[in-house]
Amino acid sequence: MINILSKEIYNKIAAGEVVDRPYSVVKELVENAIDAGATEISVSIKGGGIDYIRVDDNGGGIEFDDMPTAFLPHATSKIKTVDDLDTIMTLGFRGEALPSIAAVADVTMTSRVAECEMGGEIVYKGGKLVSHCECGAKLGTTVTVANLFERIPARKKFLSKPSREEAKILALIEHIVLANPDVVLKFESENKKFSSSGEGLKSAVFAVYGDAVLKNTVNVELDEPHIKIQGFTCLPSFTKPSKNYQNVIINGRYVESADIMYAVYSVYAPY
Ligand SMILES: Nc1ncnc2c1ncn2[C@@H]1O[C@H](COP(=O)(O)OP(=O)(O)OP(=O)(O)O)[C@@H](O)[C@H]1O
Ligand SMILES: [Mg+2]
Repeated sequence: MINILSKEIYNKIAAGEVVDRPYSVVKELVENAIDAGATEISVSIKGGGIDYIRVDDNGGGIEFDDMPTAFLPHATSKIKTVDDLDTIMTLGFRGEALPSIAAVADVTMTSRVAECEMGGEIVYKGGKLVSHCECGAKLGTTVTVANLFERIPARKKFLSKPSREEAKILALIEHIVLANPDVVLKFESENKKFSSSGEGLKSAVFAVYGDAVLKNTVNVELDEPHIKIQGFTCLPSFTKPSKNYQNVIINGRYVESADIMYAVYSVYAPY
């Protein structure tokens, strides 16, 4: 059930600009898929995501009557009360992503939940609801986003060329793979095809960095009552001249933590 957050809550959430480039659309849609419990997610893009983005998942889906609600501002199924903010287990919680995307692009969503034989399709163009009807659909949700910022030239102007936008999305996909090693993630564009096997962290590191890196890493693990650490670290003999190889994931969320990165760096400094 998707509900509209009260003013009291959404004023506490202070959401910033949700969509500023194709990268953010992909991020929001994939996070929704993960929150929906998907074990398989496919992302395909065209023109660096400016022309077209499609995210398909096998998660729990959205009920037919909930579909238009999902596109209203501050509408979320993930929190209800202010107290829920302290115990968020999902990536999303603001109820902002779908309305923000529909405001700046053409969006079609199809979805079906396990309890229903028929699914639904909802279409938004220029921020307006165009159609909402029943249709046959596989279990889960598919969202396509086309013509990003087409009607807002001032914002389109700030996008980079498609190859750069695609590179940003690819880096994001790698982070998502590392943060969700049990999810099968497939990516496709005109230039690239990529897929992770969803068989745990080792397979995720393999998918992102390949065998040469994996062979030169050791597994690290710590299991204490309130903290569990799992990961891979490079042998001191195997170095890369870039911080891009440091990835920090906290509670399933990819983060940039200067403190943690510096701590790891310090341990390696003597070597
Ligand atoms: N792929 C999906 N599968 C199932 N339900 C979805 C999916 N995408 C969106 N929803 C439903 O639509 C609601 C609105 O999605 P939206 O992304 O706008 O907000 P949110 O995820 O709750 O919060 P945030 O704005 O922080 O992402 C979600 O709370 C969820 O109930
Ligand atoms: Mg969301």
